[in-house]
Amino acid sequence: MTTPAAGLEHFAGRDLISMRDFRREELLAFLDEATRYEGFSEPILAGKVMGSLFFEPSTRTHLSFNSAMQRLGGSSIGFADAKVSSTAKGESLSDTIRVVENYCDVVLIRHPREGAARLAAESTSLPVINAGDGTNQHPTQTLLDLYTIRQTRGRLDNLKIAFIGDLKYSRTVHSLIETLTHFDNELFLVSPTSLRMPASFIDELDDRGTVYTEDEDFFSIASDVDIIYTTRIQQERFPDPIEYEKVKNAYRIDRAAIERIGGNVTLMHPLPRLNEISTDLDDFPGSAYFDQARNGVTVRKAVLSLLLGHTRG
Ligand code: CP
Repeated sequence: MTTPAAGLEHFAGRDLISMRDFRREELLAFLDEATRYEGFSEPILAGKVMGSLFFEPSTRTHLSFNSAMQRLGGSSIGFADAKVSSTAKGESLSDTIRVVENYCDVVLIRHPREGAARLAAESTSLPVINAGDGTNQHPTQTLLDLYTIRQTRGRLDNLKIAFIGDLKYSRTVHSLIETLTHFDNELFLVSPTSLRMPASFIDELDDRGTVYTEDEDFFSIASDVDIIYTTRIQQERFPDPIEYEKVKNAYRIDRAAIERIGGNVTLMHPLPRLNEISTDLDDFPGSAYFDQARNGVTVRKAVLSLLLGHTRG
């Protein structure tokens, strides 16, 4: 156990459920701390066990958390498919958590239902990490997104940031948008009308005085935009498949589109992508989506360490 730096005092033992729970100074202190985990792999979490409960598919979040835990000397148990757990026999989420808490030191949960991570946290005294709950939040994705923004643009304020695609169902967008209200930026919200940002998030932008515009046209965004954050149209969230068919190819960003916008832009995507970012952008200097995936391990090493009572600062 080490003494935490300013801004990190409240991480040990806490839950990581919603970005609403973070203050600006905590976010900045966290990002500073996370840089100390670049390439770091010493067994500071030896003997610690992560319980990893995935009720929805995942590649990045699941594997990068596992990698982070193992690189710090800890281990992980759990399932990547709820069909192989006793949930398939009808066990409630809170009973599952009350059982799993006997087997681990920190719980990681992804679930299709909004609020499931909060319910899990209320069912145990262990730290619980929300790895994505329905359309609501994906806090560690937001932390790695902030980390990547600061790494590529050198700052988190005075940026023009465009969000493109499914702004209704994308939890990565919802988490990040809420967090950006702590910073002074101009936002462009570009989506089909049927996939506009939900009113609750728009109200939050209004309440916090964040400057934003909403439009359907990709080319409505400013030519000096700093960041384009694109997201997949979330087929699995649509109640009506016909509605998905209408919008599934709404945006496809390629090299020509980026060159028309201006060029000095950081292109982000939480992944997985379908066809919203052309592969001809993979070697574009501003493309940061694979950097985001790589930064996931660094950021999640910092998350696990802090929640389990370790700091490097
Ligand atoms: N970005 C993200 O959450 O990816 P996975 O669904 O693969 O975890």
